[in-house]
Amino acid sequence: MVTLTIDGIKVQVPKGATILEAAKAAGVHVPTLCYHPDQAVKANCRVCVVEVEGVRLLQAACSQPVTEGMVVKTASPKVLNARKTIVELILAHHPQDCLKCIRNQNCELQTLTAELGIREIPFEPKVRGLKKDTSTPSIVRDPDKCVLCRRCLEACHVTQTVGALGLENRGCEAIVIPALGKDLAETGCVMCGQCVLACPVGALAEKEQIDEFLAAVADPDKIVVTQIAPAIRVAIAEEVGMKTGELDMLKFVAGLRKIGFDRVFHTNFTADLTILEEGNELLERLQHGGKLPMITSCSPGWINFCETFYPDLLDHLSTCKSPQQMFGALVKTYWAQKMGVDPKNIYSVSIMPCTAKKYEAQRPEMNASGYRDVDLVLTTRELGRLLRRAGIDFSKLEPDKFDSWMGEYTGAGVIFGATGGVMEAALRTVYEVVTKETLANVDFIPCRGLEGVKEASVNLAGTEVKVAIAHGLGNARKLLDKIRAGTADYHFIEIMCCPGGCIGGGGQPIPTTMAKRQERINAIYAEDAGLPKRKSHENEEVMTLYKEFLEKPLGHKSHELLHTHYHPREGKLL
Ligand code: SF4
Ligand code: SF4
Ligand code: SF4
Ligand code: FES
Repeated sequence: MVTLTIDGIKVQVPKGATILEAAKAAGVHVPTLCYHPDQAVKANCRVCVVEVEGVRLLQAACSQPVTEGMVVKTASPKVLNARKTIVELILAHHPQDCLKCIRNQNCELQTLTAELGIREIPFEPKVRGLKKDTSTPSIVRDPDKCVLCRRCLEACHVTQTVGALGLENRGCEAIVIPALGKDLAETGCVMCGQCVLACPVGALAEKEQIDEFLAAVADPDKIVVTQIAPAIRVAIAEEVGMKTGELDMLKFVAGLRKIGFDRVFHTNFTADLTILEEGNELLERLQHGGKLPMITSCSPGWINFCETFYPDLLDHLSTCKSPQQMFGALVKTYWAQKMGVDPKNIYSVSIMPCTAKKYEAQRPEMNASGYRDVDLVLTTRELGRLLRRAGIDFSKLEPDKFDSWMGEYTGAGVIFGATGGVMEAALRTVYEVVTKETLANVDFIPCRGLEGVKEASVNLAGTEVKVAIAHGLGNARKLLDKIRAGTADYHFIEIMCCPGGCIGGGGQPIPTTMAKRQERINAIYAEDAGLPKRKSHENEEVMTLYKEFLEKPLGHKSHELLHTHYHPREGKLL
């Protein structure tokens, strides 16, 4: 351990710790900009400078290791003035249109400017006037707002191993941009939004579609229905000033009706349905020699990645559509028939933790019923803005009910939101279907947690079934390379594009750090543990759906509406 003094406070930290870590341990706030708690130290912004006794130059707290007896001042006039000048220089190159910016009130640069008391910029303004990139349905790049922290580069290159963004030029000309100055849509970008979560400012954001939603609500001919993804249920609380998982779901329903939704459902219903379809598909492949390992297909960023970087493995994918798309297809067929409404009047909005879902919804093949499965996708952050715009005060709302016929769900549907959740849900059902025994304990603990790649095996009536789980595309790559090399002996693999699974999706509240992901995962498993039904095949409304409409898992109607095929994404700049 090393002992040092920070602003007069004695603190002990492990050898090799940085001044920033020591300051945190001492309860002293040091502002940062390029630093991100889950990433490697970049030390390129100098916002975190501090004074170290006996050292002439100010030191970057995020990169400078502590030494025995070090004496640090984090808020001397010299430090405060230096930080102010650094941020003033950044602002001289920055558009400063906070009032209209998507990150207004949740921007690290804006917070810094306020903290440092900057009232005017003593440098000549030099905003470059670079073109906004709106080429993808999911992500918007506004390079003028970039502060060159490079956090997005680590998210895209290291975490996701996609490498769609790069750093071009040097000094004042430096710019973070897709290779060869192309639009993002021309690259291998999988639209995961992990760069958006990493960005401290409004240089990267989701493509906001709130106005499209309001236009649908204003149309008297439209029945606006919504489905809420499992991962939203815990995270939306963070958008409305509550702790993770604290918002009462029935009050949430009341709030959604107030902002204009005519019917409120949840994607948990089709998460349970997915388990019935996917579980049977797995059994079919195991018993009749289909392509193994079978890989889950509910994460659209992962699908994009497979289509772009591993097109030779596409036949390993389950043919199941994602729960979002299954729900969309059923609401315009089964539900429309039951309600006696014309599907052309249904406007189907899904609320998702994910930016890639915006891309998935507009894929040409997602309209097997003759209508678009999903008309609009709003991320958790967009929904948060809508709720705040409408002035919804949940403390004053009376609880309301989810709509029925596609409203029941089990704990298995809930845990879809966390890495390992789809696998655990599948195992709960497949085990009971194959062995005809009731599971004594439905918790498959090896499936849980934030380890990058997890493995487990389950004995199914004498057959040892080997499964693996990966979250984050860098981790997925490890399993995919094994399959390519012929060294993977798994039967079933769950892959989620985003670290932590959907609770860490690119549309989730900012900040989404690893610590936040863990909190959301805890809230999800707590909900699952408290539910009376925790296995998808216990969902009676799903069973009624089979009886009344689909007939059986993998039946003709299921194939038509709930299954699809994916294709290589060719011609991308890789
Ligand atoms: S990125 Fe931040 S500082 Fe820049 S305009 Fe947007 S809110 Fe303001
Ligand atoms: S959305 Fe994902 S793949 Fe695309 S640039 Fe961002 S991190 Fe990379
Ligand atoms: S786009 Fe955002 S995350 Fe990337 S370098 Fe610029 S400011 Fe940093
Ligand atoms: S936060 Fe330390 S140099 Fe950027």
